[in-house]
Amino acid sequence: MNSAPNAPSSPKKASLSGILEMLPDFSLRSRNSFGFEALAEQAYSITDAEQIGAVMEGIDATGLPWRVLGGGSNVILAPTLPGVTLLMDITGQTITHQDGSGTVITVGAGVNWHDFVLWTLDHGLPGLENLALIPGTVGAAPIQNIGAYGVEVGEYIQSIKAFDCESKALVTIAASDCAFTYRNSLFKENPHRYIITRVHFYLPAAWSPRLRYADLAAAFANRHAPTAEEVMVAVCKIRNRKLPDPKLIGNAGSFFQNPIVEKAQYLALLKQFPELVSYPEGDEGSGKRKLAAGWMIDRCGFKGVRAGAVGVYQHQALVLVNHGGGNADSVLALAKTIQDKVQDTFGVTLAIEPIRY
Ligand code: EPU
Repeated sequence: MNSAPNAPSSPKKASLSGILEMLPDFSLRSRNSFGFEALAEQAYSITDAEQIGAVMEGIDATGLPWRVLGGGSNVILAPTLPGVTLLMDITGQTITHQDGSGTVITVGAGVNWHDFVLWTLDHGLPGLENLALIPGTVGAAPIQNIGAYGVEVGEYIQSIKAFDCESKALVTIAASDCAFTYRNSLFKENPHRYIITRVHFYLPAAWSPRLRYADLAAAFANRHAPTAEEVMVAVCKIRNRKLPDPKLIGNAGSFFQNPIVEKAQYLALLKQFPELVSYPEGDEGSGKRKLAAGWMIDRCGFKGVRAGAVGVYQHQALVLVNHGGGNADSVLALAKTIQDKVQDTFGVTLAIEPIRY
């Protein structure tokens, strides 16, 4: 993916904050993993939490629309993003507390997620290895509560530092108040309330590998208990086998969420489709099941299908890809075709996972 040059092309507009440089008509092509051509009308690189207040003041005064962009790995960008785009570039990671029971690490929202996972392992701090190689930034991770191979990031978060757009102040939100559930959180539910600036992780000293997920269990079948590094390497191998590298083929990971259905609907579906792949969901006894959307889409015959510049990845039907030259409209049109077919076949509604800007 080559980024278009970010030379100013429109008459100079004044910066909203007075302090920060405003980047006009800023190309986001290299900042979204679909590789869509997208121009941010006014972009600001945020490198310090203290800068946010002044920019938000300007936004409030002008009434311009706005959004925050992290790694751009879970978004579908329109060709033009009106108003203000905040580029979350706060970096740095420090161990802020350590004792016999565990370690607290404070990490800037703009840090690359996978680099951070490798950093923890380099520092002898296991826990996040199942979440290796997930694209995106640390600040975006809690928003959709990233999860893979039986682990969700919310389990390892102690608290979150964020700019609260209501009180106009930096606040600390305890993990217990973040409403983490499958691919959801307080932040996803209230997209214009909080701007995450730092995440405080808590990694307990007591550790054992988490290998419940079938692919991972198979990788270590008949072997000694692996180290966290070995789990990380196995996770990277599995991901590389199934998921396209956004540097080579534009994509936003899973394009749909795995739908959760009630027990009765699950049992009826199982009768009709005995090979249906699903997992228990939520409290034991609720009977709820999470269905593998990838399996359903595959079963409908979409794997590897192309629709012009976009398509369905050949090794994982849950992932839509941009072969080059695609855009938000083309990928959403393909998504609609898939949603309709899955609805007709299984009576299940697929929700789109990435956020549309
Ligand atoms: N399957 C098919 N055909 C396909 C795709 C999947 O038959 O084309 C079957 C697989 O064989 C497997 C089941 O469906 O039995 C589930 O597939 P997979 O193990 O690949 O996981 P997933 O449910 O499709 C979820 C997450 C991924 C995460 C993996 C591993 C969601 C929306 N996706 O995918 O997350 O990496 O589990 O934990 O929950 C992401 O969010 O971007 C992402 C990649």
